[in-house]
Amino acid sequence: MNEHLNTNIYTNLDKQEDSEGLVYIETYGCQMNFSDSEVVASILQANGYGITDNIDEADIILVNTCSIRENAENRIWGRLDIFRLQKRKKPSILIGVIGCMAERLKEKLLEDKKLVDLVVGPDAYRELPVLLRAAEGGQKGINVLLSREETYSDISPVRLDKNGVSAFVSIMRGCNNMCTYCVVPYVRGAERSRNPETIIREVHELIEGGYREVTLLGQNVDSYNWKNDKGERTSFAELLELVAKIDTKLRVRFSTSHPKDLSDEVLYTMAMYENICSHIHLPVQSGSSRILELMNRGYSREYYMNRVEAIRRILPDASITTDIIVGFCTETEIDHDQTLTLMQWVGYDYAYMYKYSERPNTKAARKLVDDVDEEIKTRRLTEIIELQQGKLSEISKNADIGRSFEVLVEGVSKKSTEHLYGRTSQNKVVVFPKQDAKIGDYVYAKIINATSATLLGKIVSEH
Ligand code: 5AD
Ligand code: SF4
Repeated sequence: MNEHLNTNIYTNLDKQEDSEGLVYIETYGCQMNFSDSEVVASILQANGYGITDNIDEADIILVNTCSIRENAENRIWGRLDIFRLQKRKKPSILIGVIGCMAERLKEKLLEDKKLVDLVVGPDAYRELPVLLRAAEGGQKGINVLLSREETYSDISPVRLDKNGVSAFVSIMRGCNNMCTYCVVPYVRGAERSRNPETIIREVHELIEGGYREVTLLGQNVDSYNWKNDKGERTSFAELLELVAKIDTKLRVRFSTSHPKDLSDEVLYTMAMYENICSHIHLPVQSGSSRILELMNRGYSREYYMNRVEAIRRILPDASITTDIIVGFCTETEIDHDQTLTLMQWVGYDYAYMYKYSERPNTKAARKLVDDVDEEIKTRRLTEIIELQQGKLSEISKNADIGRSFEVLVEGVSKKSTEHLYGRTSQNKVVVFPKQDAKIGDYVYAKIINATSATLLGKIVSEH
């Protein structure tokens, strides 16, 4: 799961006239958080609140937060200071911190920031209306209970990102992996899978609403495991197949795969259905087996390579992307070099790259020493970024030039209204002159050139 998205995602939301109040939701963090904001919007709308994309008209500001690294939290502290100004302009405004940071810091948020009225963790969103009403009466509200069951399965999320083409569908919550660096199991609780019937119902609703692509979300989708009343199980591969069969014109994506759990069965299912996209986000974190062991990732360098070989064998056209952390506890130059050589060997199409950031109370914070100097972390990060964004992305792009791809059109290019953009099955963005194509169409685009972030193409009649 990647937390590269962090923006306010509303456009043209319908406003309710006689509402309890207007809520402005700002979301940070991963796709799961964006999906949660849609659940929050749905709960609030069902309770008479309106949703607005204009902070100036809001009666309530909710900030859905991320704790994954220290700088993610620092950005949110900065935002809270800006909300203080909003409160000065309109003292009746209520400010709520929800999501992962709410879960991690709990009461501390109410104490440190006098301006916060409400603190709600990721499993307590159903309580939001009650807590909001109490806060309206002047009582600070907090609920950070984690649940073993909550999946919000019965809630139809209000689609906040109104591109109308692609939507996130959450299939599970929480995480049981216990990577030593990671705060997620503490802030999102234990793993639980969502009833597949409700997932399928949600996908049907999306198709009826004109959507053409869904991304199934979970911290570790490969460990999706639903057990019904009769004890019958549904695995991730089975769920993927159920969703793919709904409509051959619906693209199906998923994120995130865990290398220790990615099965050949999932890869064969992907190969069987053309509408399951040929892209796997397979976070490696490090190329050194010693570091992977310290991270408690549950695989070695060799095992990871075996999974990549399986992908190349079963899905020769698939793109592979990853997450990498540099400067984890005790990382040496030799370990770092192994990350660089593994990156070269895989030839990632894209990578999210980070410096290790110690998170309080994680196993690494308790048992290991964050002993790689900041300058060394910075230098190692620069090295992996240079490798990825230089040579590796060059190879990836050059391999695409001259080929034609089916592209699902998602929007008008930011730079020119004469151009549209969309993505290939491999999740690469293509910009092309619009001709007669419309948002939501599938077109074939031949790639003629590439910039640093996108492929440039033109519409062709067929493959
Ligand atoms: N420090 C740096 N990066 C982290 N990630 C998770 N926890 C940390 C941390 N403590 C990265 C991992 C993960 C991605 C979502 O964020 O690479 O895959
Ligand atoms: Fe997502 Fe993890 Fe950030 Fe929570 S802490 S928003 S799960 S990336």
